[in-house]
Amino acid sequence: MNDPLAQLSSQAREVLPRHVAIIMDGNGRWAKQRRLPRTVGHRRGIESLRSVVRTCSKLGIEYLTLFTFSAENWNRPKVEVDTIMGYLARFLRTEIAEFNDYNVQLDAVGQIDRLPEKVQKQLAETKKTLGVNDGLTMVLALSYGGRQELVDAMRDIAVKVKAGEIDPESVDESLLSSHLYTRDMPDPDLLIRTSGEMRISNFLLWQISYAELVVTDTLWPDFRAPQLLEALEAYAQRHRRFGKL
Ligand code: FPP
Repeated sequence: MNDPLAQLSSQAREVLPRHVAIIMDGNGRWAKQRRLPRTVGHRRGIESLRSVVRTCSKLGIEYLTLFTFSAENWNRPKVEVDTIMGYLARFLRTEIAEFNDYNVQLDAVGQIDRLPEKVQKQLAETKKTLGVNDGLTMVLALSYGGRQELVDAMRDIAVKVKAGEIDPESVDESLLSSHLYTRDMPDPDLLIRTSGEMRISNFLLWQISYAELVVTDTLWPDFRAPQLLEALEAYAQRHRRFGKL
């Protein structure tokens, strides 16, 4: 898709979200429908990821946060976890040139220190290389859990309160936000979930308070630029009131 902006209605062009978050779900089901191993679904899922990153970059969206590996995903069979980690390391290594072409920056949220050493190293290296860019920030949520993030933030704050660095009276929403993994980002405006499940699954619990939700039946490996544009059209139809009239 050469110019995705040209494919959007004028209304959708005017109210593009700054931050899109996606729960990429359905790789396993996509593979099962075709009697293929689940890992083939993940491989196809990486192609969707590439397509969505390109499109967001062309649209001028600032942040794209992708639920790539949840804290709960560690409980999957070791062979699947190892395969995903291998794909992740390779993805981070091989996509650098492409992401440079698209002026993409990289960030990661989650308990990154739980990832295999090799992935952590590649993550740091790719992040550094893409650090010269100033376009779309692709944020990979890795070993991520929303509750864990809140617990980590609260523990951080508690330590600072104990050390006398923070007055308990000054603990408010903005202080808590500034202790989350997402501290430097605006909250998502739009949360997309693929494969039809109506669940948040412990993703960005604090940050999605006012996000618009779009759930599509499309399985993640089939989610490409046209499906993203459809979600942006749906978003443009919403009236965001933030609790006001
Ligand atoms: C959801 O499908 C996907 C995941 C749990 C993680 C893997 C994500 C990808 C492969 C996309 C990009 C990844 C990398 C490594 C860059 P599922 O397995 O939960 O599907 P199911 O619900 O149909 O079983």
